[in-house]
Amino acid sequence: MSSNLEVIILAAGQGKRMHSALPKVLHRLAGKPLLGHVLDTARALSPRAIHVVYGHAGKQVVDAFKGQTITWVHQAEQLGTGHAVQQALPGVAEDSLVLVLYGDVPLTRAETLRDLLSQGGASSVALLTAELPDARGYGRIVRHPLGKVERIVEQKDATPEEAAIREINTGILAAPAGLLAGWLARLENRNAQREYYLTDIIAMAVAQGVEIVTRQPSATWEILGINSKRELADLERTYQRNYARQLLDQGVTLRDPERLDVRGALSCGRDVEIDVNVIFEGRVALADGVRIGPNNVIRNSTVGPGTEVLPNCVIEEAQIGADCRIGPFARLRPGARLADHVHIGNFVEIKQSDIAEASKVNHLTYVGDSTVGREVNIGAGTITANYDGANKHRTVIGDNASIGSNVVLVAPVTVGAGATVGAGSVITREVPPQELAIARGEQKTIKGWKRPVKKSEK
Ligand code: UD1
Ligand code: CA
Repeated sequence: MSSNLEVIILAAGQGKRMHSALPKVLHRLAGKPLLGHVLDTARALSPRAIHVVYGHAGKQVVDAFKGQTITWVHQAEQLGTGHAVQQALPGVAEDSLVLVLYGDVPLTRAETLRDLLSQGGASSVALLTAELPDARGYGRIVRHPLGKVERIVEQKDATPEEAAIREINTGILAAPAGLLAGWLARLENRNAQREYYLTDIIAMAVAQGVEIVTRQPSATWEILGINSKRELADLERTYQRNYARQLLDQGVTLRDPERLDVRGALSCGRDVEIDVNVIFEGRVALADGVRIGPNNVIRNSTVGPGTEVLPNCVIEEAQIGADCRIGPFARLRPGARLADHVHIGNFVEIKQSDIAEASKVNHLTYVGDSTVGREVNIGAGTITANYDGANKHRTVIGDNASIGSNVVLVAPVTVGAGATVGAGSVITREVPPQELAIARGEQKTIKGWKRPVKKSEK
């Protein structure tokens, strides 16, 4: 993209109709703040600078994007879109091509903007317009009978004839910074809203003989802005439906494309099946033949080929090998690394642990900060007591070890390869390889013991 491109994102609006303490542009769509979507799209155009005009609850907005290269421009009073762009211009190099985007219009495709920018030149204005069945609320594009754009009229200033126009201003435009500066300096607020309208520059450009070129996006959702929770929910659904369709087109089986949520990036191999009500967050990769059962939440994880995740698991920052079986009701926490053919069953929690090939942890168990060898069997109700209240300690379990039910392994502790730990043991010392360790009260028989009987009532 042209190296003189600078993007100005308008994000000072308060968003009253969201009925929220959170600034509008920080509300999330597909897990990412609205402004985050716009910033990502802007970056895809490789501009030499991105300026964000912010106002309401400004600190929160700036903090949310800490560490990103953004020129923040404070607009103390929201006096209109023209005024907002004007605040940013002093920071924009004079030879720039300026692209104006809105922080609350999250889904414009970079493709569409590239197309728009390819139309605009050093002495023209490029406008993104759209034909809407219901144009209410939008500025209308007024054209000469021969087709050339003459001006934009806002809904509130429009005559009934103008209000009948279906072609609307999306708000997104590109113009040379030098010309823009001249026009903005001459804006007035003599209109229904007493605002400095960015849209008024169009008539000024036309009067000056500057050409106005227009482009349209390929889909309406690209230009929809968010003003209310309803609009946010609707656009979220549109986004998710689009995402689901892409997955279907790649060959992924979705039991119901309306009941899938991807809040990040999901990559799928061949013959992946995803049942209903699954939420993917962050980066998730599912290899060939993975099956995900209903009601799973999977975040920043990889799942190896042929693995099945049964219903109702929560999986976060985990690496799962091939042909594993996870769940139902399993929880894999950050740092869970499972090799191939591992089984993790119901009510099992794994955290920061390596579990080697073909090991099984099938019921009611907590394994944390552990290294578990191959073909280990961990019985129901086993706990690695890894935390002494101050520090975490490791548990190491060798290959082929067998841990009975209801065992507490008090870390740091090692169970040798092939060792067996008897049910109900509290293991505090090393268990040597191949041996049996039992650490529990011995069973006693009290002979002739009589059960208490109920006293007769007085
Ligand atoms: C604007 C356009 C209208 C277009 C519509 C598309 C003008 C005058 N009108 O109208 O033609 O059809 O968008 O949605 O431009 N903002 C600021 N500072 C301000 C005012 C607004 O940063 O002082 C930001 C808002 O946060 C928002 C964007 O600019 O992201 C648009 O503002 P909004 O008030 O929604 O404009 P509309 O009246 O909808
Ligand atoms: Ca708006």
